[in-house]
Amino acid sequence: MDRAIEVMMKRRSTRNFLAEQIPEESLQKILAAGLQAATAMNRQSWHLTVVQDAQLLDAISQAVGAVLVDSGVPSLNDRAQEPEFHTFYQAPTVVFVSTDGSSYSLADCANATQNMTLAATALDLGSCYIGSFVQAFKHKQGKELLNRFSLPIGYRPVFAVALGYDSDPSFEIKTREWKVSYIR
Ligand SMILES: Cc1cc2nc3c(=O)[nH]c(=O)nc-3n(C[C@H](O)[C@H](O)[C@H](O)COP(=O)(O)O)c2cc1C
Repeated sequence: MDRAIEVMMKRRSTRNFLAEQIPEESLQKILAAGLQAATAMNRQSWHLTVVQDAQLLDAISQAVGAVLVDSGVPSLNDRAQEPEFHTFYQAPTVVFVSTDGSSYSLADCANATQNMTLAATALDLGSCYIGSFVQAFKHKQGKELLNRFSLPIGYRPVFAVALGYDSDPSFEIKTREWKVSYIR
């Protein structure tokens, strides 16, 4: 199989990360792949923030937990109370992708995020595309954490990629042909 296609077919979400940090060289390749993504009108409307500070990641995850508890929804409350609950699955590196809020910027950010997950796969690293952390930064507890990002004015995080070594690397090809129609 063509190498690029093989990587796309192999990509899957990893939710079991080893504690070992990823090599700096791999991180730089992943970031470069993110920054290589297509952007509407070449606006490059994203900003990437690499977080390798486990305490900050834990604090963001706790803020997500607080949002789930505050929601009053029993199933979300239960999820937040699970001992292993961690929004980033204890990944040693998380790259946050922030939008400048311009039109098409969400697509720009999604493209960069997906590119990074593919680059991670190509480098035999695990990755997980994550969006659920966003609500944490709207919570009182989370707003202060966002200050740590020192983002350019007007930017806000929308997606993240959790990165690390997968403790259970395996993959299966998903068959989704029924999602395709043809007009010929
Ligand atoms: C925009 C977006 C947000 C996502 N947010 C989360 C998330 O917060 N937590 C999570 O575990 N997975 C998240 N995922 C991963 C999806 O759950 C996953 O891609 C999907 O279940 C298919 O599984 P696969 O990635 O292994 O093919 C997200 C994916 C996308 C595209």
